[in-house]
Amino acid sequence: KLLSTKQMLLDAQKHHYAVPAFNIHNMETLQVVAETAAQMRSPLIIAATPSTVSYAGADYLVAMARAAAQNTDIPIALHLDHHEDIETIKEDIDTGFSSCMIDASKLPFEENIKKVQQVVTYAHRYDVTVEAELGKLVGKEDNIVVRDAIYTDPEDAVKFAAATGIDSLAVAIGTAHGLYKGKPKLDFDRLRVIRSKVDIPLVLHGASDVPDEMVKQTIELGITKVNVATDLKIPFAAAVKDFFKNNLEESDPRKYMTPGKNAMRKIVEHKINVCNSAGRY
Ligand code: 13P
Ligand code: ZN
Ligand code: NA
Repeated sequence: KLLSTKQMLLDAQKHHYAVPAFNIHNMETLQVVAETAAQMRSPLIIAATPSTVSYAGADYLVAMARAAAQNTDIPIALHLDHHEDIETIKEDIDTGFSSCMIDASKLPFEENIKKVQQVVTYAHRYDVTVEAELGKLVGKEDNIVVRDAIYTDPEDAVKFAAATGIDSLAVAIGTAHGLYKGKPKLDFDRLRVIRSKVDIPLVLHGASDVPDEMVKQTIELGITKVNVATDLKIPFAAAVKDFFKNNLEESDPRKYMTPGKNAMRKIVEHKINVCNSAGRY
C-alpha cells in the first residue's frame, strides 16, 4: 500500500535524518529507486512532476508504485511534485497518489494561502499529505524557468503553515533546480530561524549539485525531505550514451536500459547515505 508522507517525515524529524524524494520518469527509474531503497531499508518518496504524469500516465505511475510497495515493507509514498493545477491534483489523488505538492509560490502571499487551503481540504479527506512552498528557487524544473530567487521569510513561514494546514513546507534558502554555475551559497542561518519557528517538516528542493556536506548540514538544521532529480538523470543518460558508443547497432531496450539503471542505482545509494535514511525500517 502506498502511504502518505506524514509518518515518515515525522519520524525523520524526530530522529534527525531526511527522507529522499527521487524524481522518476518511467518504469526503469521507478524500479531503481524502489529496489535500492528497499535494499537499504530506507523510506522512499517517489516524485512525479506534471510533465512526468503526462508522459507516463497517472494510472501507470500508481500501478507501478503499488507494485513496488507490494515487493517490500519499507514505507513508500507516491508524490505529485510541483503541481500547480488544483483539478489535476484532485484527479491524481483519486487515481491513487498518496502525497502532493501544490506549488503556488509564484502567487502573492494571500493567494498562495487560498490555493493551498483548497488542496489541503481535499487531500486530507483521503489522508493524502500536502507540501507547499514559500519563496522561490532559481533554475529549471520541468518547463518552468525561474530567474530571480526569493528566500523564505521566517515570519511568513509561520503564518503560512498555520493558515494553510499543510503537512510540510518547502523552503527557499539558496538551492536551485538543476545544476549551479559555481558553488551554491546556502543561507543556513535562515534555515535555523525557520526551523525554530515552524514545527512541521521542512523540505529542500534542488538538492542536485549541492555538495554532500552542505546537504548534510541542512539536515542537521532540520530539513526532513530532500528532493533529487538532475543528479539521477545525468548518470543514467551518460551510461546509455556510452553503451551506444560501443554498440551502435543494438536495439534491445533491455540491453541499453540496463547500464543506465545500474549507473543510477549507485547515485541513489549515495543520496540515501547523504540523507542518513538507510536502516530506519
Ligand atoms: P534538482 O534537479 O536540483 O535535484 O531539484 C529537484 C527538485 O527540487 C524536485 O522537486
Ligand atoms: Zn523542486
Ligand atoms: Na540543484
